[in-house]
Amino acid sequence: MEQPLDHQHPVGHSGHRSDRHAARRGSCPPGQGGYLSGVSPVSDQPLIKLEGVTKRYPAKAGVTTVFENVWLSIGQGEFVCVIGHSGCGKTTILNILAGLERPSEGYVFVQGREISGPSLERAVIFQSHALLPWLTVLGNIAFAVKSRWPDWDRARVRTHCQRYIDLVNLSGSEKKRPAELSGGMKQRVGIARALAIQPKILLMDEPFSALDALTRGVLQEEVLRICAETRQTVFMITHDVDEAILLADKIVLMTNGPKARIAEVVLNTLPRDRTRHNLHHHPHYYAIRNHLIDFLVERSRNFDREIAQRPYDPRNPPLIMPGISEGASRPVAAAPAAQPASINMRL
Ligand SMILES: Nc1ncnc2c1ncn2[C@@H]1O[C@H](COP(=O)(O)OP(=O)(O)OP(=O)(O)O)[C@@H](O)[C@H]1O
Ligand SMILES: [Mg+2]
Repeated sequence: MEQPLDHQHPVGHSGHRSDRHAARRGSCPPGQGGYLSGVSPVSDQPLIKLEGVTKRYPAKAGVTTVFENVWLSIGQGEFVCVIGHSGCGKTTILNILAGLERPSEGYVFVQGREISGPSLERAVIFQSHALLPWLTVLGNIAFAVKSRWPDWDRARVRTHCQRYIDLVNLSGSEKKRPAELSGGMKQRVGIARALAIQPKILLMDEPFSALDALTRGVLQEEVLRICAETRQTVFMITHDVDEAILLADKIVLMTNGPKARIAEVVLNTLPRDRTRHNLHHHPHYYAIRNHLIDFLVERSRNFDREIAQRPYDPRNPPLIMPGISEGASRPVAAAPAAQPASINMRL
């Protein structure tokens, strides 16, 4: 973890959340009392803050609450993965962060400013590459770069694009159109295009799920390397626990919907120079992996029962370090369980 978060704390520590926003929240609607877009960022605050975010949709029997009272902070340069069962609202949260959807309740701040819509500061990589089929690799990336910096001349756009084409190892394919590329190459173009606009935040919705295992592994490592080099802040959805352990600094665990919520945040205690090949040798690897799988298999659907027996504050979901310290209700899982090499939990 690069920066301490002001509303998440390791279990067993006396974390205390400054309630300066919450105090204002209760009495002021969004856009008032310090929540106007344009408020100066406070230097010690996280890059992203979700405060009491809830999403409801009209349903036959009234209203469905997909998730409720979601509180989350993400620091500059952090790589956060979200895991939860299908339908718990992960994509909806990502869309809210992207500014493509509005929360039914609650607030989302980036650098202390409430977001009001999509922005080139927040780039999205979808499960499908979403490239423009009539443009080349270079053309697709240049299109985004020209939108971001309309004043740049051709040569500057070209040089800038080339840097990102090289970064994702697509040198030599600049003039190819999407139809001439493999699935992994298309996804690489999507990653280069997102990174080329130098977003403050990269939002990724299962970006590798449509790829074969080999390509997925290669791209995971490229993303890990690029994000470490650029200190990119990332919010990524995945169903693959090994992908989360490889990439994330923190793994957010969501309970099953409807009325899903953040159960806890797992801190990845493996060293940042981890690779796909050495991951499983780390002493905490199996503790983290077993914790995630136990959550997905059992706790995600019985969470209400679990918190009937212990304190739970949605504003302050516990920060868990499997193998080091865990919630009082959870035993430390030390022994490796007999499991397949990669668990993809789309249940
Ligand atoms: N526009 C909409 N109108 C009504 N319900 C919606 C709408 N968009 C999403 N939902 C519902 O919200 C819930 C959460 O959807 P979402 O796509 O965020 O889930 P998810 O966690 O990303 O699932 P998956 O893992 O399958 O991608 C689903 O039950 C879905 O049917
Ligand atoms: Mg989704």
